[in-house]
Amino acid sequence: MTASSNPAAQTETAQSAEERSRALRDTLGHFATGVTVVTTLDASGQPVGMTVNSFNSVSLDPALTLWSIDRSALSYAAFTQCERFAIHVLKGDQQHVSNLFAGRGADKFGQVKWHQGPGNIPHLDDCAALFHCRRAQNIEGGDHTILLGEVLEFSASGGEPLVFHRGRYRALAGE
Ligand SMILES: Cc1cc2nc3c(=O)[nH]c(=O)nc-3n(C[C@H](O)[C@H](O)[C@H](O)COP(=O)(O)O)c2cc1C
Repeated sequence: MTASSNPAAQTETAQSAEERSRALRDTLGHFATGVTVVTTLDASGQPVGMTVNSFNSVSLDPALTLWSIDRSALSYAAFTQCERFAIHVLKGDQQHVSNLFAGRGADKFGQVKWHQGPGNIPHLDDCAALFHCRRAQNIEGGDHTILLGEVLEFSASGGEPLVFHRGRYRALAGE
Protein backbone atom coordinates (compact mmCIF):
# COMPACT_ATOMS: atom_id res chain seq x y z
CA MET A 1 0.00 0.00 0.00
CA THR A 2 1.38 3.41 -0.94
CA ALA A 3 1.38 6.27 1.55
CA SER A 4 -1.16 8.19 -0.53
CA SER A 5 -3.75 5.38 -0.44
CA ASN A 6 -3.42 4.86 3.31
CA PRO A 7 -5.81 7.20 5.20
CA ALA A 8 -3.74 6.97 8.39
CA ALA A 9 -0.58 7.96 6.54
CA GLN A 10 -2.42 10.80 4.82
CA THR A 11 -3.51 12.22 8.21
CA GLU A 12 0.02 11.91 9.49
CA THR A 13 1.35 13.72 6.42
CA ALA A 14 -1.26 16.48 6.74
CA GLN A 15 -0.48 16.95 10.43
CA SER A 16 3.24 17.14 9.84
CA ALA A 17 2.70 19.69 7.04
CA GLU A 18 0.66 21.76 9.48
CA GLU A 19 3.31 21.36 12.18
CA ARG A 20 6.04 22.33 9.75
CA SER A 21 4.09 25.41 8.70
CA ARG A 22 3.63 26.44 12.35
CA ALA A 23 7.33 25.81 13.04
CA LEU A 24 8.29 27.94 10.03
CA ARG A 25 6.02 30.75 11.24
CA ASP A 26 7.52 30.53 14.74
CA THR A 27 11.04 30.57 13.34
CA LEU A 28 10.32 33.55 11.07
CA GLY A 29 8.97 35.31 14.17
CA HIS A 30 12.53 35.54 15.54
CA PHE A 31 13.08 38.34 13.06
CA ALA A 32 11.99 41.48 14.99
CA THR A 33 10.04 44.03 12.96
CA GLY A 34 8.26 47.31 13.41
CA VAL A 35 4.49 47.42 12.98
CA THR A 36 2.63 49.41 10.33
CA VAL A 37 -0.97 50.08 9.37
CA VAL A 38 -1.56 50.30 5.61
CA THR A 39 -4.64 52.16 4.36
CA THR A 40 -6.39 52.76 1.04
CA LEU A 41 -9.89 53.17 -0.46
CA ASP A 42 -11.92 50.26 -1.80
CA ALA A 43 -13.73 50.33 -5.14
CA SER A 44 -16.74 52.06 -3.53
CA GLY A 45 -14.54 54.73 -1.92
CA GLN A 46 -14.72 53.33 1.62
CA PRO A 47 -11.54 53.47 3.74
CA VAL A 48 -9.89 50.10 4.39
CA GLY A 49 -6.81 49.32 6.43
CA MET A 50 -4.85 46.49 7.94
CA THR A 51 -1.94 45.88 10.31
CA VAL A 52 1.22 44.81 8.47
CA ASN A 53 4.71 43.87 9.61
CA SER A 54 6.00 42.66 6.23
CA PHE A 55 6.82 46.26 5.28
CA ASN A 56 10.37 46.95 4.15
CA SER A 57 12.47 49.39 2.18
CA VAL A 58 13.52 48.37 -1.33
CA SER A 59 15.16 51.21 -3.26
CA LEU A 60 16.10 54.87 -2.79
CA ASP A 61 16.24 55.78 -6.49
CA PRO A 62 13.53 55.23 -7.48
CA ALA A 63 11.97 55.40 -4.00
CA LEU A 64 10.34 52.00 -3.50
CA THR A 65 8.92 50.11 -0.53
CA LEU A 66 7.23 46.72 -0.28
CA TRP A 67 4.81 44.79 1.88
CA SER A 68 2.92 41.56 1.33
CA ILE A 69 -0.79 40.84 1.69
CA ASP A 70 -2.41 37.50 2.46
CA ARG A 71 -4.65 36.38 -0.41
CA SER A 72 -7.39 35.62 2.14
CA ALA A 73 -7.50 39.17 3.61
CA LEU A 74 -10.92 40.80 3.22
CA SER A 75 -9.18 43.92 1.89
CA TYR A 76 -7.12 41.92 -0.68
CA ALA A 77 -9.04 43.23 -3.72
CA ALA A 78 -8.90 46.82 -2.47
CA PHE A 79 -5.13 46.81 -1.94
CA THR A 80 -4.16 44.84 -5.05
CA GLN A 81 -6.25 47.09 -7.32
CA CYS A 82 -5.89 50.52 -5.67
CA GLU A 83 -3.99 53.44 -7.18
CA ARG A 84 -2.37 54.52 -3.92
CA PHE A 85 -1.90 53.38 -0.35
CA ALA A 86 -0.46 54.93 2.81
CA ILE A 87 1.89 53.11 5.19
CA HIS A 88 1.90 54.31 8.82
CA VAL A 89 4.73 53.22 11.12
CA LEU A 90 3.23 52.83 14.61
CA LYS A 91 4.62 54.25 17.83
CA GLY A 92 5.34 52.23 20.94
CA ASP A 93 2.09 53.32 22.61
CA GLN A 94 -0.10 52.33 19.63
CA GLN A 95 -0.57 48.64 20.37
CA HIS A 96 -4.34 49.24 20.45
CA VAL A 97 -4.19 50.65 16.90
CA SER A 98 -2.31 47.55 15.74
CA ASN A 99 -4.91 45.28 17.36
CA LEU A 100 -7.76 47.33 15.89
CA PHE A 101 -6.44 47.11 12.32
CA ALA A 102 -5.60 43.41 12.72
CA GLY A 103 -9.34 42.77 13.18
CA ARG A 104 -10.95 41.09 10.20
CA GLY A 105 -13.28 43.51 8.38
CA ALA A 106 -14.09 45.32 11.64
CA ASP A 107 -15.12 49.00 11.71
CA LYS A 108 -11.58 50.23 12.04
CA PHE A 109 -11.87 53.91 11.14
CA GLY A 110 -14.57 54.82 13.65
CA GLN A 111 -12.12 54.30 16.50
CA VAL A 112 -9.05 56.31 15.40
CA LYS A 113 -8.40 59.90 14.35
CA TRP A 114 -7.71 60.19 10.63
CA HIS A 115 -8.08 62.60 7.73
CA GLN A 116 -8.07 62.42 3.95
CA GLY A 117 -4.59 62.68 2.44
CA PRO A 118 -3.69 63.13 -1.25
CA GLY A 119 -6.08 61.22 -3.53
CA ASN A 120 -8.48 61.01 -0.53
CA ILE A 121 -6.40 58.14 0.87
CA PRO A 122 -7.00 57.84 4.65
CA HIS A 123 -4.05 59.08 6.70
CA LEU A 124 -3.96 58.27 10.43
CA ASP A 125 -3.39 61.44 12.48
CA ASP A 126 -0.78 60.00 14.81
CA CYS A 127 2.13 57.73 13.82
CA ALA A 128 5.94 57.63 13.92
CA ALA A 129 6.34 57.88 10.14
CA LEU A 130 4.17 57.94 7.03
CA PHE A 131 4.83 56.85 3.45
CA HIS A 132 2.21 57.83 0.86
CA CYS A 133 2.73 55.53 -2.13
CA ARG A 134 1.55 54.87 -5.64
CA ARG A 135 0.97 51.14 -6.12
CA ALA A 136 3.75 50.37 -8.59
CA GLN A 137 3.62 46.58 -9.02
CA ASN A 138 1.99 43.39 -7.73
CA ILE A 139 4.32 40.38 -7.47
CA GLU A 140 2.87 36.93 -6.85
CA GLY A 141 4.40 35.30 -3.78
CA GLY A 142 2.66 32.02 -2.96
CA ASP A 143 -0.25 32.58 -0.59
CA HIS A 144 0.65 36.30 -0.44
CA THR A 145 1.01 39.05 -3.04
CA ILE A 146 3.91 41.46 -2.68
CA LEU A 147 2.95 45.08 -3.30
CA LEU A 148 5.66 47.47 -4.44
CA GLY A 149 4.90 51.09 -3.63
CA GLU A 150 6.57 54.14 -5.17
CA VAL A 151 6.93 56.70 -2.38
CA LEU A 152 5.32 59.99 -3.44
CA GLU A 153 5.37 61.71 -0.02
CA PHE A 154 6.82 60.88 3.36
CA SER A 155 7.14 62.37 6.83
CA ALA A 156 8.31 61.37 10.29
CA SER A 157 7.41 62.60 13.74
CA GLY A 158 9.78 60.26 15.56
CA GLY A 159 9.22 58.64 18.92
CA GLU A 160 9.80 55.10 20.08
CA PRO A 161 8.55 52.46 17.62
CA LEU A 162 6.21 49.55 18.30
CA VAL A 163 8.18 46.31 17.89
CA PHE A 164 6.84 42.84 17.04
CA HIS A 165 8.89 39.77 17.92
CA ARG A 166 7.94 36.11 18.32
CA GLY A 167 4.22 36.89 18.23
CA ARG A 168 4.38 39.60 20.91
CA TYR A 169 4.61 43.36 21.05
CA ARG A 170 7.84 44.66 22.53
CA ALA A 171 9.49 47.95 23.33
CA LEU A 172 13.01 48.81 22.26
CA ALA A 173 15.53 47.99 24.98
CA GLY A 174 17.45 50.99 26.30
CA GLU A 175 20.67 51.98 24.56
C1 LIG B 1 1.70 42.43 14.07
C2 LIG B 1 0.87 41.96 12.90
C3 LIG B 1 1.42 41.96 11.63
C4 LIG B 1 0.69 41.54 10.51
N1 LIG B 1 1.26 41.57 9.27
C5 LIG B 1 0.55 41.20 8.18
C6 LIG B 1 1.13 41.28 6.87
O1 LIG B 1 2.27 41.68 6.69
N2 LIG B 1 0.36 40.89 5.81
C7 LIG B 1 -0.92 40.42 5.98
O2 LIG B 1 -1.57 40.07 4.98
N3 LIG B 1 -1.50 40.34 7.21
C8 LIG B 1 -0.79 40.73 8.30
N4 LIG B 1 -1.36 40.69 9.55
C9 LIG B 1 -2.74 40.20 9.67
C10 LIG B 1 -3.78 41.24 9.26
O3 LIG B 1 -3.60 42.47 9.96
C11 LIG B 1 -5.18 40.68 9.56
O4 LIG B 1 -5.36 39.47 8.83
C12 LIG B 1 -6.33 41.62 9.23
O5 LIG B 1 -7.49 41.07 9.78
C13 LIG B 1 -6.58 41.79 7.77
O6 LIG B 1 -7.70 42.64 7.64
P1 LIG B 1 -8.90 42.37 6.61
O7 LIG B 1 -9.14 40.87 6.60
O8 LIG B 1 -10.02 43.19 7.14
O9 LIG B 1 -8.39 42.82 5.27
C14 LIG B 1 -0.64 41.11 10.67
C15 LIG B 1 -1.22 41.12 11.97
C16 LIG B 1 -0.47 41.54 13.06
C17 LIG B 1 -1.12 41.56 14.43
